[in-house]
Amino acid sequence: MHKSYGVNEIREMYLKFFESKGHLRLPSFSLIPQNDASLLLINSGMAPMKPYFTGETEPPRKRVCTCQKCIRTGDIENIGKTERHGTYFEMLGNFSFGDYFKKEAIAWCWEFLTSPEWLGLEADRLYPSIYLDDEESFEIWNQDIHIAPERIFRFGKADNFWEHGSGPCGPCSEVYYDRGPEYGCGKPDCTVGCDCDRYIEIWNNVFSQFNNDGQGNYTDLIQKNIDVGAGLERIACVSQNVDSLFDVDTVMNITCLLNTSPSPRDLSTYSMPSSA
Ligand code: ALA
Repeated sequence: MHKSYGVNEIREMYLKFFESKGHLRLPSFSLIPQNDASLLLINSGMAPMKPYFTGETEPPRKRVCTCQKCIRTGDIENIGKTERHGTYFEMLGNFSFGDYFKKEAIAWCWEFLTSPEWLGLEADRLYPSIYLDDEESFEIWNQDIHIAPERIFRFGKADNFWEHGSGPCGPCSEVYYDRGPEYGCGKPDCTVGCDCDRYIEIWNNVFSQFNNDGQGNYTDLIQKNIDVGAGLERIACVSQNVDSLFDVDTVMNITCLLNTSPSPRDLSTYSMPSSA
């Protein structure tokens, strides 16, 4: 069984890991998009950095890592129905603007997730996915990381091509963690990619090399980029072996406090402790 880490520990561990790989740590950008009419709210780590991906603006360094505040309005219908979707979440991200590409991104993803010096998750519970015919990623997972072919899943555009409206986009390679049959739907064909909460996606390596003009026309970006997004609360949920995003340590600190009020979770009856 792996070691359990708190949300704040995981955030710091991740940023330290990518600093050790030459990344510049930047603070989270605002949730309100700046100069981007395609988004109501920031929905991912890459969204505030689109001009760095397109080459329009020079980044402060070619390797950057952040922990970005996000609201993903597209997921709103899933909230309260699954154990893995939230209104607000933090996204861990490491980015390459025309610097490293698939080989390094995949190797570092695996090192961070499985090394006992870092998150130390069990390798035999992890399953990568790739975009349909992305043989380059398949070779990296199989030859460099030694994942057996039958453990590498191939998915189409709906799952393994990341884009949101206009801007930088590309095929991706995700990593799923198997939480065990007790979290599954029990259907005979339940496996990686199933809609239930057994195989939970915890990491997304996006190979951001195209620009979508918003009308579905794709052109090559002037550089090949990496856009990694890993949901902090999902990683904590797995690390802490708790049932849902709402049971991780930082959220429990709040809900347990609320549950001591006369009417649990009713904010109207909760008053802030007066400062002594
Ligand atoms: N931009 C990618 C995502 O949000 C990493 O999943």
